[in-house]
Amino acid sequence: RPRVLSGIQPTAGSFHLGNYLGAVRQWVALQETHDAFYMVVDLHAITVPQDPKELSANTRLAAAQLLAAGLDPDRCTLFVQSHVPEHAQLAWVMNCLTGMGEAGRMTQFKDKSARQGADRASVGLFTYPILQVADILLYQADEVPVGEDQRQHIELTRDLAERFNGRFGETFTIPKPHILKETGKIYDLQDPSIKMSKSASTPKGLINLLDDPKATAKKVKSAVTDTDTVVRYDTENKPGISNLLGIYSTLTGIGIPELEQRYEGKLYGALKTDLADVVVDFVTPFRDRTQQYLDDPETLDSILAKGAEKARAVAAETLSQTYGRVGFLPAK
Ligand code: TYM
Repeated sequence: RPRVLSGIQPTAGSFHLGNYLGAVRQWVALQETHDAFYMVVDLHAITVPQDPKELSANTRLAAAQLLAAGLDPDRCTLFVQSHVPEHAQLAWVMNCLTGMGEAGRMTQFKDKSARQGADRASVGLFTYPILQVADILLYQADEVPVGEDQRQHIELTRDLAERFNGRFGETFTIPKPHILKETGKIYDLQDPSIKMSKSASTPKGLINLLDDPKATAKKVKSAVTDTDTVVRYDTENKPGISNLLGIYSTLTGIGIPELEQRYEGKLYGALKTDLADVVVDFVTPFRDRTQQYLDDPETLDSILAKGAEKARAVAAETLSQTYGRVGFLPAK
């Protein structure tokens, strides 16, 4: 079985629809066909300031949401990044292989540090993508299911893996991004020129999966579209409608051409009302399932403990090979 690996940050509150459609939904599908490793990346989270109590609560909350979304601990390995110390250890080696300029070209760092103020941004934020490289290479992943915004980090991973292999001998699998065209980038409901995100979206443009379903329905119904009236998938000229069609199609499994047909001659309002129902039908049971996992933290923690054990076995093997190739004297 080919292997996949991916990660998600333990953000406050809940995942948003972009996280789910762009990434987590693919994770659920890939656990059936791949040897799958998925993690909550708490080491990445502390690249910006975190309240310690909230961080651990949010880490559990993230794991609960992943299970609620359909990850099955019998079909995949679900773990918390800090439970596997090899991530930080391999990241150090990868740091030493990365050029300053190369790291400085990462657009996510540039955006995030600009938002925080360059002086306040941590060195950890700067090396964030290199920790991500280590995450992926540790598991010899063939594919990395993510949203479009992570593409550059996967490119960096490929570059560094090739560099290491060239310099020290074949060690790492060169991974490919797994990014879907329709859902790789879910847009803000109020501004379909920007991606849906916790940091950039306004509350009305952002669908948090754990919000009150009624409020969510309202947001879908007031999504910004265009002044035309034809329901057609055209990302260039109709980004708002195309975004809604992409979400609709993915959540229901109905193809976009069929949706276009269904709404032929109808107003945008009809599409939005139906999509609001579709989204509510998804988030309502999702919320309940998440709550069930949160109500039983012992089960949750034991799933994560088992996941960490499985992950460590793989990670330790790769790290020890890497250390050997680099020339570190083996500890006797
Ligand atoms: P994070 O936590 O920001 O986001 C988790 C996943 O959600 C995707 N995503 C989106 N997809 C479509 N449309 C959107 N509007 C949208 N917003 C977010 C992201 O692309 C991501 O796949 N650096 C990563 C976490 C990470 C990781 C890794 C991923 C750490 N190590 C190793 C893969 C492999 C991140 O910050 O994701």
